[in-house]
Amino acid sequence: MACKSVLFVTLGFLLSFCSTAKVNKHFFPQNFKIGVANAAAQIEGAWNEDGKGETIWDRFAMSRPERIFDHSSPQVAADSYHKWREDVEMVKEMGVDHYRLSIAWARIYPDGYKTEEPNAKGVAYYKNLLRSLRALGIEPMVTLYHWDLPQKLQDDFGGWLSPKIVDIFADYARTCFELFGDEVKWWITINEPKQICEAGYGTGVFAPGIVSPGVGNYKCAKNVLLAHAKAYHIYDKEFRKKNQGKVAIVIDSNWSEPASAKPEDQEASERALQFTYGLYGNPVFNGDWPAVVKERVAQRSKQAGLKESRLPALTKEEIKLIKGTHDFLCINHYTSHMVSAWYEAPVTDTSLTADIGVNDWMPKEWPRGGEGWFSVWAPGMRKLLNWLKNTYNNPEIVITENGLSDNTGTLEDDHRINYYRDYLSNCLDAIYIDNVNLTGYTAWSILDDWEWSTGYHSLIGMYKVDFNDLTGLGFLGSLLHTSPKSPRTAAWQKILENVYIKQK
Ligand code: BGC
Repeated sequence: MACKSVLFVTLGFLLSFCSTAKVNKHFFPQNFKIGVANAAAQIEGAWNEDGKGETIWDRFAMSRPERIFDHSSPQVAADSYHKWREDVEMVKEMGVDHYRLSIAWARIYPDGYKTEEPNAKGVAYYKNLLRSLRALGIEPMVTLYHWDLPQKLQDDFGGWLSPKIVDIFADYARTCFELFGDEVKWWITINEPKQICEAGYGTGVFAPGIVSPGVGNYKCAKNVLLAHAKAYHIYDKEFRKKNQGKVAIVIDSNWSEPASAKPEDQEASERALQFTYGLYGNPVFNGDWPAVVKERVAQRSKQAGLKESRLPALTKEEIKLIKGTHDFLCINHYTSHMVSAWYEAPVTDTSLTADIGVNDWMPKEWPRGGEGWFSVWAPGMRKLLNWLKNTYNNPEIVITENGLSDNTGTLEDDHRINYYRDYLSNCLDAIYIDNVNLTGYTAWSILDDWEWSTGYHSLIGMYKVDFNDLTGLGFLGSLLHTSPKSPRTAAWQKILENVYIKQK
């Protein structure tokens, strides 16, 4: 039977370091799609070449290097703008079905605004990349916005804080559908609104660094949803018939494991999920903000003496515009936390954390990943998939990111092999035992990249990139445009090879 199989049993060497692991005997269905991913700002480099405009991440990192762990910037990254052919080779070598990449808005429209002609060199770059992938039978999955807002849009009107962004994004989306529609069947409008809004306009730890907890993040959320919805409708009306593609938004979520069976802890888990995935998922799949989010923010705002809720209302028309704008459901998932009921934080604390109002921690017995910022607990993957199935009426689900970083860059990366093995095993259980309609899985990342506020310190690639000459020089290195790698070492493809095999 033609199938892709999870090979825990047959690979002796794999068993040698995971002999206690549960063996999963299921096979991924024949039409299940497995892919790898990355995003423009994290790998392309060439930050100001061939007409590309400045982005909020260029400015954020370069104007105040101390905001990035290793004081680096995305100026060079993995130099994929010049070495994209190598990337395509790597993707091919991995034997995967799809490659998730993103388009840098500022390469198409340097200032973000639609102009008569998009930037020809930027367009050519993506056309070449997309055509090469397709020629090799690799399906591109293309994200229109993976956090790299053209700086001008931030300077002119505050970026995602202003409703002006909605039509400007829609124009850009239409241009991409027009330019690349023949090559792309899987479109992602926006990646991880929670990070864009909460980290970018709430806590300010991500670009553009706006600190406006409990206000900016919610304004941003509304504008992101409207921008996504407009782009979805444009595709639906103007391109779907001709190009026959699918469109979705990618939302990220941890799993929140209730600390006990007590109703208050169960509620805490549900509340945490509704404030993270639900804040974006509910308007798209069910219509309007989740009830618990609406109620809590309204109540806390009122108690603080505000006339209106900090969470901007969605009008009937807006609800209608956003609801149903999905052809499948996307989830980025890396980690789980334990949650329990908590005391009510003072209403003067407007942070998202206070609005959620749960106690949230990483249990000692769950191994740490991602340099300690997340805990590895694979059952969370299966539980989250089930929660998505039940909360959103059994949609088709695609995992658009999952992976484990460290800061050693070791090629003896059994911990990563184990991570993928266990997370994929839970995906299989979700499919076969729980009947979750999971049709695809995407590992993050194809190669080491520039990991936003952790710079080159977090290593998460299936292929190692030699950044030594760059990180050695720190910020100076990036100013000098030092080439960060020589050579790229194939190392990681064995993970997926070992975890599943396509039997043709
Ligand atoms: C983002 C990626 C990032 C990954 C690992 C996700 O939240 O979408 O851009 O590299 O996490 O940190």
